[in-house]
Amino acid sequence: MTDRYAVIGNPIGHSKSPLIHKMFAAQTGQDISYEKIEAPLDGFADTIAQLRGEGYKGCNVTVPFKFEAYQLCKQLTGRARAAQAVNTLLFKDGEILGDNTDGAGLVADIEQNIGCKLLFKKVLLMGAGGAAYGVIWQLFNAGASIVVANRTLDKAQQLVAEFASYGTVFASSYEALNGKQFDVVVNATSSSLSNKLPPLPSGIFAPDALAYDMMYGKQTPFLKFAQKQGVTQLSDGLGMLVEQAAEAFFKWREVRPETAPVLAKLREVK
Ligand code: ATR
Repeated sequence: MTDRYAVIGNPIGHSKSPLIHKMFAAQTGQDISYEKIEAPLDGFADTIAQLRGEGYKGCNVTVPFKFEAYQLCKQLTGRARAAQAVNTLLFKDGEILGDNTDGAGLVADIEQNIGCKLLFKKVLLMGAGGAAYGVIWQLFNAGASIVVANRTLDKAQQLVAEFASYGTVFASSYEALNGKQFDVVVNATSSSLSNKLPPLPSGIFAPDALAYDMMYGKQTPFLKFAQKQGVTQLSDGLGMLVEQAAEAFFKWREVRPETAPVLAKLREVK
């Protein structure tokens, strides 16, 4: 019998997740279906209850429901606990189990697809919202030393305080970045959505730096800025999207799909 999965968000119209999971399923011979579902903003828990009732095996969760998903879980992985958010649910033995594969997706894309090892690298993580919380633990796990910059300094300080025991991490305003350089600069702000650039000083990129925008599908102001600064390693977040999906697929199916052909196909149809 076909096992059913879905991605739940609001809005969800442009999600590429069904396409990605269908390609994974075809490649690995897994008999699954995967659809997108728009839950009402005040109806996430009801939607989950309905899916469980209908026998779904799990789902992905995206904006704005990752925090609510976290609250619903009976059991959580360590990385979901660290992120305080969940993007992957497993419905198993009558329980809801939660994981967060976003950080693993980012790190796999940076290290395996782009080929930039994070061990002892200086990483600037821009933003202190949900997207930053979702990936910071995994960046530590890869051995990076991290500065978190945010417009609202308080929020960066709070994030840093929560993760201080994991490794080297500092909070910074954008102005205080003047004169500093980083090997990897990750944009985890929502600035690209409004076609804006975080107020980065020039000279922020170390030689051979990587500029990574977690937003996918467009040439963002941040990537344009990096290019003007002479950065040649530029990446949007499409690889992260495919890698976080692969990690979710693995959790559900215990089979790890090949990501490279799927990423290549998505770049083709973009
Ligand atoms: P998400 O869950 O997507 O991270 P969020 O929790 O609303 O969304 O957080 C958005 C992040 O993007 C915040 O860190 C925000 O900075 P503030 O905390 O100072 O608001 C950041 N952000 C949004 N627009 C920005 C811009 N134009 N420049 C710099 N940072 C921006």
